Amino acid sequence: LMAVQISPSILTADFARLADVAAKVADVADWLHVDVMDNHFVPNLTIGLPVVESLLKATDLPLDCHLMIENPDRWAPAYAEAGAGSVTIHAEAAKAPVRTLRQIRSAGARAGFALNPGTPVQDYEDLFGEIDMLLVMTVEPGFGGQSFLDIMLPKIRKAREMISKHGGQIWLQVDGGVSPKTIERCAEAGADVFVAGNAVYGSDDPARAVQHLRAQAEH
Ligand code: DX5
Ligand code: ZN
Repeated sequence: LMAVQISPSILTADFARLADVAAKVADVADWLHVDVMDNHFVPNLTIGLPVVESLLKATDLPLDCHLMIENPDRWAPAYAEAGAGSVTIHAEAAKAPVRTLRQIRSAGARAGFALNPGTPVQDYEDLFGEIDMLLVMTVEPGFGGQSFLDIMLPKIRKAREMISKHGGQIWLQVDGGVSPKTIERCAEAGADVFVAGNAVYGSDDPARAVQHLRAQAEH
Protein backbone atom coordinates (compact mmCIF):
# COMPACT_ATOMS: atom_id res chain seq x y z
CA LEU A 1 0.00 0.00 0.00
CA MET A 2 1.31 3.43 -0.95
CA ALA A 3 1.54 6.14 1.70
CA VAL A 4 -0.85 8.99 0.92
CA GLN A 5 0.49 12.52 1.32
CA ILE A 6 -1.58 15.70 1.22
CA SER A 7 -0.05 19.02 0.15
CA PRO A 8 -2.52 21.91 0.59
CA SER A 9 -1.95 24.75 -1.89
CA ILE A 10 -2.03 28.27 -0.50
CA LEU A 11 -2.80 29.77 -3.92
CA THR A 12 -6.35 30.84 -3.12
CA ALA A 13 -5.73 31.54 0.59
CA ASP A 14 -5.15 34.98 2.14
CA PHE A 15 -1.64 36.07 1.08
CA ALA A 16 -1.61 38.73 3.81
CA ARG A 17 -1.87 36.01 6.49
CA LEU A 18 0.33 33.18 5.29
CA ALA A 19 1.51 32.16 8.77
CA ASP A 20 -2.12 31.63 9.84
CA VAL A 21 -2.88 29.89 6.56
CA ALA A 22 -0.06 27.42 7.23
CA ALA A 23 -1.05 26.97 10.89
CA LYS A 24 -4.57 25.90 9.87
CA VAL A 25 -3.26 22.64 8.38
CA ALA A 26 0.01 22.23 10.30
CA ASP A 27 -1.19 19.24 12.35
CA VAL A 28 -2.74 17.28 9.50
CA ALA A 29 -0.90 18.06 6.25
CA ASP A 30 2.35 16.51 5.03
CA TRP A 31 3.48 19.53 3.02
CA LEU A 32 2.48 23.07 2.19
CA HIS A 33 2.30 23.60 -1.57
CA VAL A 34 3.56 27.00 -2.74
CA ASP A 35 2.76 28.06 -6.30
CA VAL A 36 5.44 30.38 -7.67
CA MET A 37 4.20 32.09 -10.86
CA ASP A 38 5.99 34.70 -12.96
CA ASN A 39 3.28 35.88 -15.38
CA HIS A 40 5.34 34.48 -18.27
CA PHE A 41 5.25 30.70 -18.00
CA VAL A 42 1.65 31.05 -16.79
CA PRO A 43 -0.71 34.05 -17.08
CA ASN A 44 -0.70 34.77 -13.36
CA LEU A 45 1.69 36.31 -10.84
CA THR A 46 2.08 35.18 -7.23
CA ILE A 47 5.08 35.18 -4.92
CA GLY A 48 8.80 34.58 -5.16
CA LEU A 49 11.83 33.78 -3.07
CA PRO A 50 11.54 36.54 -0.40
CA VAL A 51 8.04 35.43 0.58
CA VAL A 52 9.08 31.78 0.57
CA GLU A 53 12.01 32.65 2.86
CA SER A 54 9.62 34.36 5.28
CA LEU A 55 7.15 31.49 5.12
CA LEU A 56 9.93 29.02 5.94
CA LYS A 57 10.43 30.86 9.23
CA ALA A 58 6.70 30.99 9.91
CA THR A 59 5.87 27.27 9.71
CA ASP A 60 7.32 23.87 10.54
CA LEU A 61 5.55 22.29 7.57
CA PRO A 62 7.98 21.45 4.77
CA LEU A 63 7.39 23.61 1.71
CA ASP A 64 6.58 21.97 -1.61
CA CYS A 65 7.56 24.73 -4.06
CA HIS A 66 6.01 24.41 -7.52
CA LEU A 67 7.86 26.74 -9.87
CA MET A 68 5.66 27.85 -12.76
CA ILE A 69 8.29 30.20 -14.12
CA GLU A 70 10.09 30.63 -17.38
CA ASN A 71 13.62 30.30 -16.08
CA PRO A 72 13.61 27.53 -13.45
CA ASP A 73 17.30 26.79 -14.08
CA ARG A 74 18.12 30.24 -12.76
CA TRP A 75 15.86 30.10 -9.69
CA ALA A 76 15.25 26.53 -8.50
CA PRO A 77 18.56 26.03 -6.64
CA ALA A 78 17.93 29.15 -4.56
CA TYR A 79 14.61 27.76 -3.27
CA ALA A 80 16.38 24.55 -2.28
CA GLU A 81 19.21 26.46 -0.60
CA ALA A 82 16.68 28.61 1.27
CA GLY A 83 15.31 25.41 2.86
CA ALA A 84 12.37 24.27 0.76
CA GLY A 85 11.73 20.55 1.30
CA SER A 86 10.85 19.98 -2.34
CA VAL A 87 11.37 22.06 -5.47
CA THR A 88 9.51 21.23 -8.68
CA ILE A 89 10.49 22.55 -12.09
CA HIS A 90 8.47 22.27 -15.30
CA ALA A 91 9.58 20.12 -18.24
CA GLU A 92 8.34 22.78 -20.67
CA ALA A 93 10.45 25.52 -19.09
CA ALA A 94 13.71 23.90 -18.04
CA LYS A 95 16.57 24.24 -20.50
CA ALA A 96 19.07 22.25 -18.44
CA PRO A 97 16.85 19.90 -16.40
CA VAL A 98 19.57 17.42 -15.41
CA ARG A 99 21.85 20.11 -14.05
CA THR A 100 19.01 21.89 -12.26
CA LEU A 101 17.55 18.72 -10.73
CA ARG A 102 21.01 17.78 -9.47
CA GLN A 103 21.49 21.24 -7.97
CA ILE A 104 18.16 20.94 -6.15
CA ARG A 105 19.20 17.59 -4.69
CA SER A 106 22.67 18.67 -3.71
CA ALA A 107 21.15 21.61 -1.84
CA GLY A 108 19.25 19.03 0.22
CA ALA A 109 15.76 19.28 -1.26
CA ARG A 110 13.69 16.72 -3.13
CA ALA A 111 13.74 17.28 -6.87
CA GLY A 112 10.34 17.47 -8.58
CA PHE A 113 9.60 17.43 -12.30
CA ALA A 114 6.23 18.67 -13.60
CA LEU A 115 4.36 17.95 -16.82
CA ASN A 116 1.63 20.18 -18.25
CA PRO A 117 -1.48 18.36 -19.47
CA GLY A 118 -0.21 18.36 -23.07
CA THR A 119 3.27 17.06 -22.24
CA PRO A 120 3.69 13.29 -22.63
CA VAL A 121 5.36 11.40 -19.78
CA GLN A 122 6.94 8.93 -22.24
CA ASP A 123 9.42 11.61 -23.36
CA TYR A 124 11.06 11.87 -19.93
CA GLU A 125 11.97 8.34 -18.84
CA ASP A 126 15.66 9.23 -19.22
CA LEU A 127 15.30 11.75 -16.37
CA PHE A 128 13.79 9.35 -13.83
CA GLY A 129 17.16 8.79 -12.18
CA GLU A 130 17.36 12.52 -11.43
CA ILE A 131 13.95 13.03 -9.82
CA ASP A 132 12.27 12.33 -6.48
CA MET A 133 8.77 13.32 -7.52
CA LEU A 134 6.90 13.46 -10.83
CA LEU A 135 4.02 15.96 -11.00
CA VAL A 136 1.25 15.25 -13.47
CA MET A 137 -0.79 18.46 -13.81
CA THR A 138 -4.50 17.75 -13.88
CA VAL A 139 -5.41 21.31 -14.99
CA GLU A 140 -3.59 23.84 -17.16
CA PRO A 141 -1.36 25.59 -14.62
CA GLY A 142 -2.03 29.18 -13.61
CA PHE A 143 -5.12 29.29 -11.44
CA GLY A 144 -6.79 27.54 -8.55
CA GLY A 145 -10.38 26.36 -8.59
CA GLN A 146 -10.38 24.80 -12.07
CA SER A 147 -12.09 21.51 -12.92
CA PHE A 148 -10.10 18.30 -12.78
CA LEU A 149 -9.18 17.00 -16.25
CA ASP A 150 -10.40 13.40 -16.33
CA ILE A 151 -8.45 12.79 -19.53
CA MET A 152 -5.26 12.90 -17.42
CA LEU A 153 -6.12 9.62 -15.66
CA PRO A 154 -4.50 7.39 -18.32
CA LYS A 155 -1.36 9.56 -18.06
CA ILE A 156 -1.27 9.08 -14.27
CA ARG A 157 -1.61 5.35 -14.83
CA LYS A 158 1.19 5.40 -17.44
CA ALA A 159 3.41 7.44 -15.11
CA ARG A 160 2.85 4.96 -12.27
CA GLU A 161 3.71 2.07 -14.59
CA MET A 162 6.95 3.77 -15.65
CA ILE A 163 7.83 4.60 -12.02
CA SER A 164 7.27 0.98 -10.96
CA LYS A 165 9.49 -0.22 -13.77
CA HIS A 166 12.11 2.20 -12.52
CA GLY A 167 12.05 0.80 -8.96
CA GLY A 168 9.05 2.57 -7.48
CA GLN A 169 10.88 5.19 -5.40
CA ILE A 170 9.62 8.28 -7.23
CA TRP A 171 6.55 9.95 -5.72
CA LEU A 172 3.69 10.70 -8.13
CA GLN A 173 1.95 13.99 -7.45
CA VAL A 174 -1.26 15.33 -8.96
CA ASP A 175 -2.19 19.02 -8.91
CA GLY A 176 -5.35 20.72 -10.12
CA GLY A 177 -9.00 20.10 -9.33
CA VAL A 178 -8.20 17.52 -6.65
CA SER A 179 -11.27 17.23 -4.40
CA PRO A 180 -13.10 14.61 -2.36
CA LYS A 181 -14.87 13.77 -5.65
CA THR A 182 -11.75 13.27 -7.78
CA ILE A 183 -9.05 12.13 -5.35
CA GLU A 184 -10.16 8.47 -5.34
CA ARG A 185 -9.76 8.22 -9.11
CA CYS A 186 -6.28 9.78 -8.86
CA ALA A 187 -5.25 7.36 -6.11
CA GLU A 188 -6.65 4.41 -8.01
CA ALA A 189 -4.64 5.50 -11.07
CA GLY A 190 -1.46 5.50 -8.96
CA ALA A 191 -0.94 9.00 -7.54
CA ASP A 192 0.36 9.20 -3.95
CA VAL A 193 0.92 12.94 -3.32
CA PHE A 194 -2.15 15.14 -3.66
CA VAL A 195 -2.15 18.91 -4.00
CA ALA A 196 -5.44 20.56 -3.12
CA GLY A 197 -6.09 24.29 -3.05
CA ASN A 198 -9.76 25.09 -3.26
CA ALA A 199 -10.82 21.82 -1.63
CA VAL A 200 -8.84 22.82 1.49
CA TYR A 201 -8.85 26.61 1.72
CA GLY A 202 -12.29 27.02 0.18
CA SER A 203 -13.60 25.01 3.13
CA ASP A 204 -14.74 26.43 6.49
CA ASP A 205 -12.52 23.89 8.22
CA PRO A 206 -9.27 23.38 6.26
CA ALA A 207 -7.89 20.78 8.70
CA ARG A 208 -11.01 18.66 8.42
CA ALA A 209 -10.89 19.04 4.64
CA VAL A 210 -7.34 17.63 4.63
CA GLN A 211 -8.39 14.69 6.80
CA HIS A 212 -11.37 14.03 4.54
CA LEU A 213 -9.17 14.08 1.42
CA ARG A 214 -6.74 11.67 3.03
CA ALA A 215 -9.54 9.29 4.00
CA GLN A 216 -10.93 9.36 0.45
CA ALA A 217 -7.49 8.72 -1.07
CA GLU A 218 -6.89 5.79 1.29
CA HIS A 219 -10.28 4.29 0.41
C1 DX5 B 1 -2.45 25.63 -10.43
C2 DX5 B 1 -1.60 25.34 -9.22
C3 DX5 B 1 -2.30 24.54 -8.21
C4 DX5 B 1 -3.54 25.16 -7.64
C5 DX5 B 1 -4.49 24.04 -7.40
O1 DX5 B 1 -1.66 26.09 -11.45
O2 DX5 B 1 -0.43 24.65 -9.59
O3 DX5 B 1 -1.42 24.16 -7.16
O4 DX5 B 1 -3.36 25.87 -6.46
O5 DX5 B 1 -5.68 24.56 -6.97
P1 DX5 B 1 -7.01 23.69 -6.96
O6 DX5 B 1 -6.79 22.54 -6.03
O7 DX5 B 1 -8.05 24.65 -6.47
O8 DX5 B 1 -7.27 23.22 -8.37
ZN1 ZN C 1 0.76 23.84 -7.92
